[in-house]
Amino acid sequence: MALINPSILSADFARLAEEATAVEGADWLHVDVMDNHFVPNLTLGVPVVESLSKATDTPLDLHLMIEDPDRWAPQYIEAGAGSVTFHVEAAAAPVRLAREIRAKGARASMALKPATPIEPYEDLLPELDMLLIMTVEPGFGGQAFLDIMLPKIRRTRELISRHGLEMWLQVDGGVSAATIERCAEAGADVFVAGSAVYSADDPAKAVRDLREKAET
Ligand code: DX5
Ligand code: ZN
Repeated sequence: MALINPSILSADFARLAEEATAVEGADWLHVDVMDNHFVPNLTLGVPVVESLSKATDTPLDLHLMIEDPDRWAPQYIEAGAGSVTFHVEAAAAPVRLAREIRAKGARASMALKPATPIEPYEDLLPELDMLLIMTVEPGFGGQAFLDIMLPKIRRTRELISRHGLEMWLQVDGGVSAATIERCAEAGADVFVAGSAVYSADDPAKAVRDLREKAET
């Protein structure tokens, strides 16, 4: 199984509803929330997520690149998010936060920046529905994939298997037709792709092509 989640960071923000439907067939729509504090970029907030969730049937995969996710995550679930990813580097109480996200009916997910190792968080894995390994420094679309993250993807997949967990392993950053096979081979099964989907002439076809490559 491979899930392809186009990132609307690379879409035209003035035409978000159309851009969301342009990738029909995608598994989830990846929504990057940035606050210009946790990362040096600013995108969108709760009201935009609320409108977007009404404009598409594709479930929303929220990636919170913000400070104080403990405070904000519940509001994004109320706005319609089906999955909420917080950064462990920003969370005050990751276990409590993951439990709260699940209790509110969304999938709980935790992200690791490139320099954050998985090992200290091994015991938290059962609290999560997904782990996100960043394959670029978070903040911008269109960056080059960091090959040096492949061993971390592999080690994380081994930990998930060792614990007998069903959770998903997502990669985000520089995922394209040129890099997705390496990510899949290392053990990722959920793939975020921004520029690779939205810079294509046919974004829906780009999604299908990526899924096919990931599943071979
Ligand atoms: C980067 C974001 C990504 C971004 C990926 O911080 O988290 O989701 O949209 O864009 P590409 O696929 O172009 O690297
Ligand atoms: Zn993202």
